[in-house]
Amino acid sequence: MKKKKILFVCLGNICRSPSAEAVFRGMVEEKGESHHFVIDSAGTSDWHRGEPADKRMQKHAVKRGYNLTSLSRPFETEDFDKFDMIIAMDHENMEELKKRAVRKSDLDKLYMMTDFSRKFKYDYVPDPYFGGDEGFELVLDLLEDAGEGLLEFVNGK
Ligand code: 4NP
Repeated sequence: MKKKKILFVCLGNICRSPSAEAVFRGMVEEKGESHHFVIDSAGTSDWHRGEPADKRMQKHAVKRGYNLTSLSRPFETEDFDKFDMIIAMDHENMEELKKRAVRKSDLDKLYMMTDFSRKFKYDYVPDPYFGGDEGFELVLDLLEDAGEGLLEFVNGK
């Protein structure tokens, strides 16, 4: 089977998208499906290039058993060729990705993370960077919910 290549994208690649990467990777590993996937994350900005995930995000993620190991990197146009699905956390990320698209087929790869939500009614994953603890917890709640929906979607359920 051909590997499914999924890239999660936010603004800084230090809070939401590294968490999406870790949460989704955890789900895939638990189901024993790791060999079917390539999972990565990137930011629409290069502000935090090379940095590990935000300490506050790491603290909240670890409490739920997720280790955020990725280092921030900016989204690159070549990512459209390297990945099958490019999943934005909010509408600003989506608009930025649309601007970077070169071909129609690039646009067809774009999704909102919340497209896959099951319980939650949010239509984007809110940026937790300038807020308190509850924002980081909400990010993880939304990612766990949408991650399940995404896994069903890619597995054709
Ligand atoms: P992220 O959060 O996009 O979820 O990684 C942010 C990280 C950094 C900044 C904003 C949002 N910033 O302004 O530096």
